[in-house]
Formats: sequence, C-alpha cells, structure tokens
Amino acid sequence: MKILGIESSCDETACAVVENGRIVLSNVVATSLDEHKLYGGVVPEIASRRHAESISGVVREALTQADCTMDDIDAIAVTYAPGLIGALLVGVNFAKGLALATNKPLVPVHHLRGHIASNYISSDVEPPFLCLVVSGGHSHIVAVNSYTDFEVIGKTRDDAAGEALDKAGRTMGLEYPGGVSIDKLSPQGNENAYTFPRPKVTDSPYDFSFSGLKTAVINIIHNAQQKGEEIIIPDLAASFQKSVVDCLVDNLEKVAVEKNFNKIVIAGGVSANSKLREQAAKMCSKNAFELSIPELKYCGDNAAMIASQGYYEFIEGEVADESLNAYATMPIDKSYKTIKPL
Ligand code: KG4
Ligand code: ZN
Repeated sequence: MKILGIESSCDETACAVVENGRIVLSNVVATSLDEHKLYGGVVPEIASRRHAESISGVVREALTQADCTMDDIDAIAVTYAPGLIGALLVGVNFAKGLALATNKPLVPVHHLRGHIASNYISSDVEPPFLCLVVSGGHSHIVAVNSYTDFEVIGKTRDDAAGEALDKAGRTMGLEYPGGVSIDKLSPQGNENAYTFPRPKVTDSPYDFSFSGLKTAVINIIHNAQQKGEEIIIPDLAASFQKSVVDCLVDNLEKVAVEKNFNKIVIAGGVSANSKLREQAAKMCSKNAFELSIPELKYCGDNAAMIASQGYYEFIEGEVADESLNAYATMPIDKSYKTIKPL
C-alpha cells in the first residue's frame, strides 16, 4: 500500500511517498528556514506564504521521485495538528483538494505521532516501547502501546527542550535555531565550565521543566557583564546543552526502569542532537535497553514520517471527511475519530 504524506506544520513544506509504512520511495522537503533566521525565529505568516507557493511543486516532485502517479496512491495522509495554524491549513487544504479530485481517502496525522514514526522508516522497531519526543514545541515521555495507542507519562511544565535550546542560543548571540548552533559549538567547549541546575518537578517526577535553565543562562551573562568578566560562549553552550540532555536522559531512564520498559525510542527535532544521542546510547547500554533514534535526515520535520504513521492510522480506519480542519494544539493520545466521529 502506498501512502502520500504531506507536512506543513512549521517552516518545512514536505511531501513523501512511503510503501507499507516502512519503505520510503521519495521524501521531498522545501524549507523557508533561511528567511526566518533573519528574525531569530519562525515568522508564521512568512511560513504560510512559502507553503502556499511551494506545495504543488513539492507534491509533484515527490510523485516523480517515487516514479508514481496519483493512480498508484492508496491514501493521502496529512499533518492536521499541532503546529502553526496558518501553516497547517495550507497542507490540510491542499490534501483535501487532492483527495477530492482523485477520490482517495484522507488520513489525518498528529505531528508528534509522525515524529515517532520516523523510527519505523529508520529501523525495524515495533511498538510497544517508551518514547522520548523532543521538538521545538513539545517534550513528552510517551508509552507507545501500539501504532495508534499512546499514553503520556511525562511532559514539560513550561518550555520544550528545543524551545529552551533555541532561546538560550539567542541569548548567547548564536544563529537560529539555537539548538543546532549549540550542538555545533559544544564540542569546542568545556561542559563543566558553568554550573546549571538540573530542575525536577517535585509533585510529578516524570515531568520536565526547562524555563529555569533559560533564566540561568540570562543570569550568568548578566552577572559576567556586571563584573566585566568575559563569557566563553562555547563553554556556556556545552554546559547548557549538558544540563538539558541530563534532564532528558535521567527522566527517561527513571520512567523506563520504574515502568519496566526495555525498548526505548527517541524522536523529534532535538533527537538530532549529538550529546543526546551519545548519552541515550550510554544509558541504554548500561541498562541493556534496546534503543532506536531516527537517521539524522528524518529527525527534523519531513513527510515520510507522516506517510509512515498515516499507513498505520489508515489500516486502523482513521479517515476524515471533507470537513477536516487543522488545530494548533492537540493531545497526542486523542485520535481524530474521538474528536470528530464520521
Ligand atoms: O521537530 P522539529 O524539526 O520541529 C518541531 O516540531 O518543533 O524540531 C525543531 C527543534 C528546534 O528547537 C531546533 O533547535 C531543534 O529541534 N534541533 C536541535 C538540533 N536540530 C534541531 N536541537 C539540538 N541539537 C540539534 N542538532
Ligand atoms: Zn516537528
């Protein structure tokens, strides 16, 4: 079965064709990132306009690279939530038009479920497993009981890990996205040079909190400026990155041990982070856990992950009618059927 996936939740306009949820026949991504760099973050209206300009060409290219026409496609999967609403609406509306014109089923896909599925196209891992999903907007620890059954065990109380890295990067004067800049700069720095807290949420031990770390960076910089001391940016980046990764990996280990998981999966844009990949691998080998992290090309936003998850949603009967809408927020454990039964 061939699924055409469409993704437009942030600044990537993407389309892919994936066979049986696992075999990527094409994966095309156009990004407006360079324009957003000028503003230090994603400008929603620019992202929406670039999606509108690029989407037809990106879909055409994905079909061409997969050596397919729409006749070969069994269903159209599209990211419908969560994300920037104007950006999501471009992909959702395009998918609806395409489904109507070609008389194909339309499959709504949750963006974070898609990130998790980037592991299905990178390895042969299958649920059940425990997953750390870390992106620009979300930090969740999720029990993936089956391809379509998700249970949130822990999540951030405030900023997402990616958001904290991006904000810290900005404070350090690094290029957007800060997460990528901090990862690149950190090998040149000493990760023990600056002291950061390892925040814990006392009433809910599986949750994260990153906003204090962001404030700590600001304080370190202000204090140094007041004393006329020099800030060594690579040291600050490496120390900050270490504290974020420690929080993520320590919590993941705690949940896995306490809830008896031995299969661990990591997903989302921050899963590209070298320190996180290294530390997660160490933690998993210490505990004899199996670990899956997506190939680097599938860590960021792409449509192959949406087509992969779309396949599993489709065989479970998750389809939408012509009234499909986009949503800026949506819990990962809610299926489209439950919010809008056909
Ligand atoms: O999943 P994603 O591409 O978009 C969202 O769904 O949010 O994640 C983007 C986030 C950004 O915060 C970015 O800084 C972070 O992923 N990111 C990284 C790395 N690559 C992307 N953070 C740390 N290290 C990286 N190598
Ligand atoms: Zn994403």
